[in-house]
Amino acid sequence: MPEHTTVAIVGGGPAGLLLARLLHLRGVACVVLESRDRAYVEQRQRAGILEQGTVDVLRAAGAGDRLDREGLVHHGIELRFDRRSHRIDFPALADGASVTVYAQTEVVKDLIALQLAEGPPLLFGAEVLAVEGADTGRPTVRYRSEGRDRTLTCDYVVGCDGFHGVARQAVPEGGLTTYEREYPYSWLGILADVAPSCDELIYAHSPRGFALHSMRSPSVSRLYLQVPNGTDVAEWPDERIWDELDARFAVDGPWRLERGPITAKSVLPMRSFVTEPLRHGRLFLAGDAAHIVPPTGAKGLNLAAADVTVLATAFAELHDTGSTELLDAYSDTCLRRVWRAEHFSYFMTTTLHADPAQSAFETRLQIAQLGRIADSPHAAAELAENYVGLPLTPPVGEPTRAPAAPVG
Ligand code: FAD
Ligand code: DHB
Repeated sequence: MPEHTTVAIVGGGPAGLLLARLLHLRGVACVVLESRDRAYVEQRQRAGILEQGTVDVLRAAGAGDRLDREGLVHHGIELRFDRRSHRIDFPALADGASVTVYAQTEVVKDLIALQLAEGPPLLFGAEVLAVEGADTGRPTVRYRSEGRDRTLTCDYVVGCDGFHGVARQAVPEGGLTTYEREYPYSWLGILADVAPSCDELIYAHSPRGFALHSMRSPSVSRLYLQVPNGTDVAEWPDERIWDELDARFAVDGPWRLERGPITAKSVLPMRSFVTEPLRHGRLFLAGDAAHIVPPTGAKGLNLAAADVTVLATAFAELHDTGSTELLDAYSDTCLRRVWRAEHFSYFMTTTLHADPAQSAFETRLQIAQLGRIADSPHAAAELAENYVGLPLTPPVGEPTRAPAAPVG
């Protein structure tokens, strides 16, 4: 493991792994330090929906082969409310767009396999303890690996270490402003060995609470139920989960939810969080280390991919031309997309979930809002455009400007 590198990346989740791969392809040296072991990182159940921009950048990173073979392209979603269903047609409403169902576990496996085969260095079981000297010309990352404390010096550090990571803590008091909201409910997520009961995802509003039907493959379903905060999975034996899903997806007309063996259950709290700016001196924050969205609307992984695409282009410009212009614009560039996604995720969450404190009047307002989306192509287009996501800036594979002569 080198003792110095250009970009030290803290965290080997999707943000850190994709950034490393993009930097490697542009000739920028970097090292990834990941606290967990490979098996843990590869098994962590999370996101499932990739925007077209995320698919494009994964392909550009050389991680598109299995994604193109196994990813399920979806051209719409279904909204269910008031016992009726309404389809949001992406090509008709959002300029021919689609999304791809391909699990985050698989994205991470593909990126790890590439990185271990071709570099740059990726160290598992390397817990970063502190990032020091972000204000100076030579930051230092202190980490523990194989029972020993070690240091990595670098020109820049990128914190891709998720919401609970340490990189953000390197910023002195007052250096960042945070905006936050917690929600009065969580999700119980399950994986089941049963073919999905639908061709497209179903987002269901019901007086009993929200439910989501997603999938991982033609034979594996992924489903979520709104549950109270603090729920213990032990309170939810399999039959109770299926009965509750049946009740929440109930619709007038033909519909049947297929049941099967449940292979995983977990409870996820929900939060909105943004820290500004995404930079302090030579430290940059990306992905969940910088912002969290509640999962309704599937934006978290896509935002992480968008951040590191902008950052990789900026480091490549610095490497090729000596210009810090894109690096200096990183925070503002990303925050525009982040706040759009924050708003959309908040809207989807608060429109589809039953807040335990909400009145019957507020439930009727939610149904009126969903009815408006069903009845107005304009309102439906607003949802569709946000769901499929903004194009990446800069578009993947396009140089930001004509290449200039390298400096120095
Ligand atoms: P993380 O995935 O959190 O990775 C951070 C990494 O840093 C981890 O590997 C961690 O072990 C490591 N780390 C932490 N601390 C240290 C340290 N001190 N030293 C070294 N390493 C450290 N998003 C979508 O876009 N679409 C979806 O459909 C979607 N569905 C979701 C469903 C669920 C149930 C959940 C929980 C999330 C979902 N998300 C979704 C969000 C998405 O999973 C996250 O936004 C994404 O994982 C962010 O990636 P990241 O690399 O920034 O952070
Ligand atoms: C999935 C997760 C989401 O948050 C979402 O909005 C859609 C799908 C999933 O895990 O498949």
